[in-house]
Order: sequence, then C-alpha cells, then structure tokens
Amino acid sequence: MKIQSICCIGAGYVGGPTMAVIAKKCPDIKVTVVDINEARIAAWNDEDVEKIPVYEPGLPEVVAEARGRNLFFSTDVDKAIDEAQMIFISVNTPTKTYGEGKGQAADLKWIELCARQIARVAKGEKIVVEKSTLPVRTASTLKDILKHTGNGMNFQILSNPEFLAEGTAVDDLMAPDRVLIGGDQSEEGLKAINALVEVYARWVPKERILTTNVWSSELSKLTANAFLAQRVSSINSLSELCEHTEADVNEVSRAIGTDSRIGPKFLKASVGFGGSCFQKDILNLVYISRSYGLDEVADYWEQVIIMNDHQKKRFAKKVIRNLYNTVSGKKIAFLGWAFKKDTNDTRESAAIYVADHLLNEQSKVSVYDPKVTEQQIYSDLDYLGSRSSEENKASLSVGSDPYKVCEGAHAIAVLTEWDEFKTYDWKRIYDNMLKPAHVFDGRNIMDKKALKEIGFQVHSIGTADDN
Ligand code: NAI
Repeated sequence: MKIQSICCIGAGYVGGPTMAVIAKKCPDIKVTVVDINEARIAAWNDEDVEKIPVYEPGLPEVVAEARGRNLFFSTDVDKAIDEAQMIFISVNTPTKTYGEGKGQAADLKWIELCARQIARVAKGEKIVVEKSTLPVRTASTLKDILKHTGNGMNFQILSNPEFLAEGTAVDDLMAPDRVLIGGDQSEEGLKAINALVEVYARWVPKERILTTNVWSSELSKLTANAFLAQRVSSINSLSELCEHTEADVNEVSRAIGTDSRIGPKFLKASVGFGGSCFQKDILNLVYISRSYGLDEVADYWEQVIIMNDHQKKRFAKKVIRNLYNTVSGKKIAFLGWAFKKDTNDTRESAAIYVADHLLNEQSKVSVYDPKVTEQQIYSDLDYLGSRSSEENKASLSVGSDPYKVCEGAHAIAVLTEWDEFKTYDWKRIYDNMLKPAHVFDGRNIMDKKALKEIGFQVHSIGTADDN
C-alpha cells in the first residue's frame, strides 16, 4: 500500500513536530494533525508561526513551509480518521493519579478513547500506528477494541515509538539515529510495516530503519528511556560522593566518557532530570515488572527514580544550608523553569520541586525563564497541591527581566541550562544582590572562576565548595 494520507491524533510535543517533518519530507502525502484541545489547534494554525504551541528551534520554518500545502491542523477528529490510510496515535500517556497502579502505571484512558473513536469511525483498510510511548503489550488491547468495530474495517497495528529529544526535535526528526517499526510478523503485518518503512525511507537511510515484532518495539522505547535516565542518576549519585572527596565530577565524567564502551553523552551531573518521559516511563517499567512478579527487576529500575528525587532535594537543602540554615523571607532567584534548554516544556522539571521545597521553608522565590509563561509556572506549582493557589502567588513571582528577578536576592539558582544565562552582565547582577551573594549552579554551566572573581560564592554540582 502506498500511503497518501496520514492522520495523527494528538497535536502535542510529539505529534506536532513529527507530523510537520513528515509533511515537509513527503509533499505528496496529506498529513492532518487533530486534537480535542481547540486552543492548541488554534495556536498551530496561528498566522504567526512563532506562536505555534511547541517551542522548538527550527520548527516554525518547517511548519511555515508545509502548513496549508499538505499539513493541516484540525479539531475534526472523525473526518481525519475517515480520510486517512494511516492513523498515528500520539496522545498523552501520563502516570496514573488514581486507583490501581496510582503513581506508577501509565494511564491509558486517552489511548483507549482514541481506539474507540477509530473503531466507531473507520472503514476499509487502516494502519494504526502507536506513536505514544506505551506499556509492552498495549497493541493487544488496541486490537481487542478495534476488532469490535462493526464497520468491517481491516486493520494492522504498528508500534513506531518516537525517540526525538525536546529542544532538538527537528534535527532529531530530520536525521534520526534510527527509526523503529514493530508489527505483526504475518504477511499482512509485514506489508503494513513496509508501508511505513517507505514513508520514512524518503529521507532516512534504510539501514537506520529497524523493524521488529510489535512487543520488542513497545518495550524498546521504555528501555531506551530507562537507560538514558539511569546514566543521569549514575553520574548524579557520584556527584554527591565527589562533593565529599574533592574529586570533580566533570573530570570523572570526562575520564570515563572517553572509554568508547561508555561514551561521553548523558554523563553531565545536574540538579536532576525532568521532562514528561523519563520518570513516567521508568515507573511504568517498574509497574510492569512487578505485575509479572519480577521484584528484583522492578527494584533495580526504581532506584533510578529514588536517586533523581534525592538529587533534587539535595540541591534545595544545599541552598538552605548555605544561607545559614534558614531561607524564611529570603528572596531566591531562579534562572530557568523549563526542564531543559530550548523547550517551553516544564513537565516534571526539577525547578518545580526545588521551588516547592524552598517555599515550604517560607522562602520568596522569583523566576525568570526565556520561554515559559507565568501562567504555566503557577499551574505547575498549583498542580503539586502543597499550597493554595493564593499562597503560591504570594510567595513566588515571575519576571520577564532577569536582572530585576535577581535584584535584592540572597541567592541565584540556575535550574535550566539556557545559553543566555552565561552571557549576562554578572557584575551588574552581583552589585544588586544582598551579600554574601550565592550562585547555586544546578547545571554546571557557569564560569565558576569568573563569578568568584566578581565576589560570588559559587556552588556547583559534584565539586567541593571552596568559597
Ligand atoms: P502532549 O500532552 O504534549 O500531547 C498530547 C495531545 O493529545 C494533547 O494535546 C491532547 O489534547 C491530545 N489528546 C488526548 N486525547 C485525545 C483524543 N482522544 N483525541 C484527540 N486528541 C487527544 O504529549 P506529548 O509530549 O506529545 O507525548 C505524547 C506521547 O508521546 C506520550 O505517550 C509520550 O510518552 C510520548 N513521547 C513524548 C516525547 C516528548 O519528548 N514529549 C518523546 C517521545 C515520546
């Protein structure tokens, strides 16, 4: 089957960029991205491409090229399902917040709703593609729902997990390390796999398109995220040991990263990983393992999360300790709220948890982030439920001028590695702060020596304080 029309359900951080790149690379395929969130679709359709709802370097240009030509954003889900030969499901699959598996299992209610909608609407031949990250064996649930369609639909289910990283999504999609496609190993299944292979093969070298059975593909995505997060927690665990032994975690990372078996990437110590995926996917892996009675496997992966939580808490405690064990009434300026640079996504950002800890100690927090809105910051804090919305508003402020945000502060905490932070006039910032003026560099991006020469007390992750 040669694919000429694609629909993607879910216009989020994955659905939007992924489909924009498919549309750019395959101008003859009609790509329609649908979502029930009207405001989000309206933003994707905004005349000013800089206002699309996902901030990613290079994305406005891709959308500008394809939108209206063969890329469309719509809220008419039924119509898009009906028209498409291939339907990607790219909806959210967050950790369950209620009932059985609360706090660990993936909440699949949005996936199930999509499947039911497809079952209700679709006719003829369809290929349904799992783009969302899903627990291994979800395809069998989808199959169960789809086969009760009543419309005589003939369908195949593929798993095509997305490996893009936010902040570099466009580059990752244009030149992926690999594309993974899992499907049924029957003749029909292999045909469906091949149809999707041919879409990607327009711009991805064939040797980078891996095909597997559907279960391996589903599990590989969870595994990839678990391995990546595990590297961060591993180096972060050693950062604490470094702070006690005068070893320097940056030197240790370099020393081990040059071993080609280990490799240099994902070995940077920090205040802890965030993002919508790592924690949720590991918790999901832990839950699945436990549900098969594999307690040792579950415990092993759970430790990655325990270490990450510890790292965030440890950072907040270090701020408090260095401010003479009390931050009550003291202003602490946050540079960065996004979970990493070059994205406006804040889900599970370390900044949220560090702020929560400091607010519990009655600190006054003021935040500057180049891409995150004030509304998002308050909504992240309110979501934790630690304080009322009014209390959060009273204790935390958000500013659009980093110099003002730092004015009168006892300390600055660098929570996101935005490049612009390195280029500020740090002497000017120092002059307007209370003394001693502290910088807590949660990302190890600052020029420690230069800051110390200005007069700052600088605290990094994984090196002993020598102020
Ligand atoms: P998101 O929350 O940004 O977007 C999901 C969208 O789906 C929302 O706009 C929501 O309104 C929409 N939606 C939910 N149910 C719907 C329905 N029944 N009909 C139409 N639209 C519906 O989520 P994001 O970040 O795009 O993630 C999607 C999936 O991709 C998740 O499973 C995630 O684990 C996975 N993933 C995410 C990555 C990331 O970097 N954010 C990377 C790789 C995978």
